Amino acid sequence: MSRNAHIAASVLSADLGKLAEQVAAAEAGGADWLHVDVMDGRFVPQITFGANMVGALKKLSKLPLDVHLMVVEPERFVEPFADAGASVFTFHPEATIHSQRVLGSIRARGMKAGFALNPGSPLALAEELLDDIDLLLIMSVNPGFGGQEYIPAATEKLRRARQLLSARKSKAVLQVDGGISRQTITTAWQAGAEAFAIGSAVFGVKDIAGEVKELRRRCTEKA
Ligand code: DX5
Ligand code: ZN
Repeated sequence: MSRNAHIAASVLSADLGKLAEQVAAAEAGGADWLHVDVMDGRFVPQITFGANMVGALKKLSKLPLDVHLMVVEPERFVEPFADAGASVFTFHPEATIHSQRVLGSIRARGMKAGFALNPGSPLALAEELLDDIDLLLIMSVNPGFGGQEYIPAATEKLRRARQLLSARKSKAVLQVDGGISRQTITTAWQAGAEAFAIGSAVFGVKDIAGEVKELRRRCTEKA
């Protein structure tokens, strides 16, 4: 199986006072995307960034911006994030009623449509909509905070997700988010994940660039 690991460095864990410097370090280490966690204080307890953060990152880096919306009614934010320059717009079907319509409107605005499932949400939610999905995100923590521990059951869910994508000949990128570190990335990679949203493991260390390289290195073993 030929897969390329995509490292999406999550700026949630960056030191905002040194954002430019830390983003440059992640980029120098070979990060593929910047992951932007948008939280509204309703779908998840915290409030983080809005479209202005995407605009700011756009000026700091050429990397594609992988925006993960943990918000209720994500449909209200498709336009502003498209205008700000998001490449991927990932939302939670748990947070909206008409998921298929949201997926369509994301593509219509020229972004990749991402579909994120909480640990408690069945994979079956994605099954009917695979043709409309460009990225399937399996959460390996309950969203809302960086620095949480990887939930082991995510590995089996990733395996089933990979099987589902292959069986349906879907080209959707399989992403995992939460608790990914040197200790967990190989397991998730071998289970079929190809994109990794990583916060604390990348930005919580001194050598950010070196850590990105090391994490990628751990994805080259036989899957
Ligand atoms: C969690 C966010 C994650 C977060 C991951 O709700 O969706 O993207 O940045 O952080 P770590 O890698 O520290 O678990
Ligand atoms: Zn995220």
